[in-house]
Amino acid sequence: MSESQSLRELISNCKLPANEARILLAHLLEKHYQLPRSALLSRDDMTLDIVPLEEWGNLVSRRLGGEPIAYILGKKGFHNIELLVAPGVLIPRPETELLVDIALAEITKLNRSTKILDLGTGSGAIALSIANAAPLASLVATDQSVEALTIARKNAQSLTLKKQVQFLQGSWYEALTEQGQFDVIISNPPYIANQDPHLTQGDLRFEPESALTDFDSGLSCLQAIIAGADQHLKPGGLIAVEHGFDQSEAVIELMTIAGLADIRVHLDLAGHCRAASGRKGL
Ligand SMILES: C[S@@+](CC[C@H](N)C(=O)[O-])C[C@H]1O[C@@H](n2cnc3c(N)ncnc32)[C@H](O)[C@@H]1O
Repeated sequence: MSESQSLRELISNCKLPANEARILLAHLLEKHYQLPRSALLSRDDMTLDIVPLEEWGNLVSRRLGGEPIAYILGKKGFHNIELLVAPGVLIPRPETELLVDIALAEITKLNRSTKILDLGTGSGAIALSIANAAPLASLVATDQSVEALTIARKNAQSLTLKKQVQFLQGSWYEALTEQGQFDVIISNPPYIANQDPHLTQGDLRFEPESALTDFDSGLSCLQAIIAGADQHLKPGGLIAVEHGFDQSEAVIELMTIAGLADIRVHLDLAGHCRAASGRKGL
């Protein structure tokens, strides 16, 4: 029986790893009692009322069933912002912050107002992080998924970044209407091959398949995005894409075939090649 158990006991008697139990309990403390996470320690002898206690049981069983914590909480921190997330949208990953940093370095280097395109925006993670950090940048963020765009627009609204980011629906560059050419194109497209066993494991089982895989070799979306860059970049403009840890060589080749210059690989914090960039000639 979890009735009359203290916070300390709820955590130690829970079947989840203690760090996950703490995250879920901190969420309930904030939601029902407006208490900060530190209350897990400072008030560890506190007991929960009936409604939060029932919710605790529900959250724990969802997590034991494998549902990602970000979907259970409905939010995920990324770069310097917090995003709403729901099952219609990919949960933003820490490694994708690399693309944000590449774009921000380019914006700083250009030192003027810049036009940025984020292809396959999902929750809006990349576009909204750039907008948040670079108030003079104007962004276009596209996605084929109407559900993803609904969530991305909600995020723009709650972060008060709506004026800076235009959202468009459609397949890659086909979503564009009269936006002209861009200083920077960024994309984290689906790049997992259709037979990859990871698709049926862990958090990925709960995320939209169309955000994870191209239903092909893993390279088809990257190919389409890289091949279209020349037409949509200003002279000297930069494209940067995220890819799988074993796709670096293939992506460099796609950039070479597309005639891009100044091709570079970018390492994530673990030292893996997880992004590549190239430039349109001047
Ligand atoms: C890996 S997720 C990235 C989401 C987000 N940019 C991020 O980094 O968290 C890929 C996104 O591309 C979108 N997508 C898939 N195929 C597409 C297409 N043909 N045109 C535009 N977007 C597409 C998916 O709906 C998904 O939101």
